[in-house]
Amino acid sequence: MKSTKPASKSSEDRNKNVRLVKIDTDNFDAMTHLSVDDTQKGFLVENIYSLAEAYATLAEGRFVQCFGIYDKEIPVGFLMIGYDYTSCCRGEVPDFIRNSYNIWRLMIDKNFQNRGYGREAVRLALEYIRTFPCGKAEYCWLSYEPENEAAKQLYRSFGFEERPEWYLEGCEMPAVLKL
Ligand SMILES: CC(C)(COP(=O)(O)OP(=O)(O)OC[C@H]1O[C@@H](n2cnc3c(N)ncnc32)[C@H](O)[C@@H]1OP(=O)(O)O)[C@@H](O)C(=O)NCCC(=O)NCCS
Repeated sequence: MKSTKPASKSSEDRNKNVRLVKIDTDNFDAMTHLSVDDTQKGFLVENIYSLAEAYATLAEGRFVQCFGIYDKEIPVGFLMIGYDYTSCCRGEVPDFIRNSYNIWRLMIDKNFQNRGYGREAVRLALEYIRTFPCGKAEYCWLSYEPENEAAKQLYRSFGFEERPEWYLEGCEMPAVLKL
């Protein structure tokens, strides 16, 4: 379903206060209270599932980093960054996934959307990725439901390019950015 962005506009001043805070035992609970609109629920899993998946990933000795997206002290969203092969891949692994970073999950709570937080979170995510916490990599990739117009527009504006040759019916559309 195609969505139309409402007229309300983000403020650059507000976004100066946006920061990524690593998730730990002090703040994980706040993430479980953030949610998206009913019309967006098919676009991603709940944050509590993502936190469980992050735990399982770490237990296997693989990299994942979860962040709360905060405006000053207010939690407005959740971000999860991965590296290398992740559990969502099946069969052959494309070159842009192997030894690459990925924006695994991103959500802005329904009460804080359309204010520029998503854009600022992607900018901060890429800034973090470009510190290469797992070593140098050529690509950052992500994926979204093909009908998720907001995600598609947002990521395209940062230079992510869709890779439809790797799209499988019923799965998410992958998109890649050269770092
Ligand atoms: C996608 C999402 C993270 C965007 O966050 P946001 O804070 O609302 O977005 P912003 O206000 O920063 O807008 C950034 C850009 O997103 C796009 N966008 C946001 N809402 C949109 C909408 N309803 N329709 C089309 N494009 C939209 C626009 O390109 C916008 O850029 P602009 O301000 O220059 O027009 C948010 O809508 C969300 O959490 N959605 C549900 C979860 C989800 O789909 N996550 C991505 C899964 S991969």
